[in-house]
Amino acid sequence: MSDPITIATLSAEEMEATLPELLAVLRDAIAGGASVGFLPPLDDEEGLAYWRATIAAVGGGSRVLLAARWVGGPILGTVQLDLAMRPNGRHRAEVSKLLVLRAARRQGLGRALMVALEAEARRIGRTTLILDTRQGDPSELLYARLGYRLTGVVPQYARSADGTLDATAFYHKLLPGEEG
Ligand SMILES: CC(C)(COP(=O)(O)OP(=O)(O)OC[C@H]1O[C@@H](n2cnc3c(N)ncnc32)[C@H](O)[C@@H]1OP(=O)(O)O)[C@@H](O)C(=O)NCCC(=O)NCCS
Repeated sequence: MSDPITIATLSAEEMEATLPELLAVLRDAIAGGASVGFLPPLDDEEGLAYWRATIAAVGGGSRVLLAARWVGGPILGTVQLDLAMRPNGRHRAEVSKLLVLRAARRQGLGRALMVALEAEARRIGRTTLILDTRQGDPSELLYARLGYRLTGVVPQYARSADGTLDATAFYHKLLPGEEG
């Protein structure tokens, strides 16, 4: 990558101010067949409802969102940390919705978002990370290269746009910092 990119956490207010960009990232991923909870076509109402709920979670302190952009440009990718809020899980978080615009893929943004997310997770003491992804997707390679270990595979977990019930691979990674 030659151009400078910035990756930063967004506050609820910053997310509100960039709602159209966030919606565009989600819409693009769904249109491209990503297995991230929704089926195409994603209408604006459904997408906005999702982002509004995410903004509320960020505002309430149970979610962290990181966004990547070329300096001065629109948001090109996002990733989230969903923080376990139960007393026995305050060291744990789920990585979700790693999304990079199709036009910006294979330039290192996905990896950079994950590296930044892990730094943030460590900073806030969330050292046990879990995530899941459709088995066979490119994301599996990315996670494996970042040191995520395959926890297991659940067959027929998520429906794809063509109606198939696909297997989902669950991964985990223990970041340095937590004992035992
Ligand atoms: C997964 C995703 C976030 C990757 O974003 P990206 O910015 O293209 O990823 P990077 O450029 O940082 O790639 C890092 C590594 O991941 C692997 N990788 C990423 N995309 C790949 C692809 N299409 N084919 C093969 N390997 C791929 C490669 O090992 C790559 O390293 P390399 O480019 O040095 O070979 C992006 O493809 C995406 O948004 N997909 C749709 C949403 C999704 O499925 N998210 C995961 C849900 S859990």
